[in-house]
Amino acid sequence: TGLGKNKERLLEQLSRHGAILFRGLPVNTDSDFDRVIQSFGLKNFTYAESLSNAVRRNRTERVFTANEAPASVSIFLHHEMAQTPVYPSKLFFYCEQAARSGGATPLCRSDILLQELAKQAPEFVAACEEKGVRYSNVMPDIDDPESGQGRSWRSTLSTDNKTAAEDKLRKLGYEWKWLEQDSLRVTTAVLPAIKETENGRQVFFNQLIAAFRGWKDARNATEKPIRFGDDSAISKEAMAKAIQIGDELSFDMLWQSGDVVLVDNFLVMHGRRPFEGQRRVLASLIAD
Ligand code: FE2
Repeated sequence: TGLGKNKERLLEQLSRHGAILFRGLPVNTDSDFDRVIQSFGLKNFTYAESLSNAVRRNRTERVFTANEAPASVSIFLHHEMAQTPVYPSKLFFYCEQAARSGGATPLCRSDILLQELAKQAPEFVAACEEKGVRYSNVMPDIDDPESGQGRSWRSTLSTDNKTAAEDKLRKLGYEWKWLEQDSLRVTTAVLPAIKETENGRQVFFNQLIAAFRGWKDARNATEKPIRFGDDSAISKEAMAKAIQIGDELSFDMLWQSGDVVLVDNFLVMHGRRPFEGQRRVLASLIAD
């Protein structure tokens, strides 16, 4: 598959539309998918180096399972790793096996969401712009595949040593607290909630929707996962608006086995609908 031969044109279309579906290619295995990605000659963004909360398993150097969270768990709209200071610019998805039912990947244009939100909740958008946001979550001591954000602090911070973990957090500007059973509560530095893309579009580039709706598990139940950068509260009403607009604008990518989708991580949010049966969607992240 020589998709990469059309790289310039495809990347131009991607930055205009936000996502491209490739259907009917002879992509039958994870290594076929790896070759498609390689043909683009873009820089890989590794899971090991990322601060992603999700538990994943690598298939090849570039390709990993999208999220090990159980079938019944919804993964809400988000920009990949927008809750951390380092994030990929693009994502490749590959459907190795479509679910028996459900399992679509909702895709939502973040620029259009922001435009709508600015009309319906202008004070909220202004506060996002001025204050930025901070995210808090509790990481377990060992990976918890039952949770959508079950990645252990050992894996997230690439160390088994608590002092080294603290050093890494300090460098990233995070605050932290050790909790029971060696779980670790972290709060990020202030991160922007709105970003401008290279071609000048304003996007709702953050993790507010997914964190507000979805960061709930055995360890993350009581404390609020999101706040403005000055530690003031983000209202439920404002979040309800953002969620509603996101739901209205979402396009459901209904997978067929063999599909490859390229997503612009700055322009488009993605999620995962619950499903029944086996669903194997693989992913790969691009750094540039
Ligand atoms: Fe994701």
